[in-house]
Amino acid sequence: MRLLGIDTGGSSLKAAPVEVTTGVLAADVVSFPTPSPATPAAIAAVVKRIAESFPELGGPVGFAFPSVVRAGVACTAANVDQGWIGTDGARLVREATGRPAAFLNDADAAGLAEVRVGAGGGQDGTVIMLTFGTGIGSAIFHDGHLMPNTEFGHMEIRGMEAEHRASARVRKVECLGWPEWAQRVNEVLACMHALFWPDLFILGGGVVENWASFGPLLESPTRVVPAELGNTAGIVGAALAASEL
Ligand code: BGC
Repeated sequence: MRLLGIDTGGSSLKAAPVEVTTGVLAADVVSFPTPSPATPAAIAAVVKRIAESFPELGGPVGFAFPSVVRAGVACTAANVDQGWIGTDGARLVREATGRPAAFLNDADAAGLAEVRVGAGGGQDGTVIMLTFGTGIGSAIFHDGHLMPNTEFGHMEIRGMEAEHRASARVRKVECLGWPEWAQRVNEVLACMHALFWPDLFILGGGVVENWASFGPLLESPTRVVPAELGNTAGIVGAALAASEL
């Protein structure tokens, strides 16, 4: 079965049809710039256009979004328009596309994909996925079960939120070299390790394309691996969530 997965990022909304039994993309990813301001109405208009690009996919749509999501409603808006707080995202996507919709946190979606069909496949125990982009997203799994909405990117390190020190955006804005940035990521991993003693860390986000530059500089008592699905994990996870509606 092929379902549409959509992932919302700070700079673009990316989408593709996903074969949900395998997690493989059934076509190239389409990408639309994130509107500015990224209000619910503006995002809904983009979602509508995306759905119209895939008329053959009539089933449920999965929509991954960078906020805490409880019972289909966005509860936070850390790096997005404040108008999202209190928005019923599942309903918004349903109305924009005319199809049933699953609405979930972007890092939870990426983690779901990696644990089911990516770097965490077959791993028992506790797996923590961290995504490095505009912010830092997180997802925690135990024996394959997700505990949603963890928001570890807002954990305080050296008096600052982790994502304000160690996101991929901060690396660019502060022009950090790989060793300096990897050191900041190591602090995040150390904090997570001390609190959760995970069996595996999976690191995701577009920056993972540069794994060769920073992966060898990462240090943790826990094994650390790059996301296998790269930047498409959120799309795949969104479609997987839709398949469970
Ligand atoms: C948000 C999270 C999101 C993460 C990655 C954070 O600022 O609070 O909900 O998962 O960014 O996009």
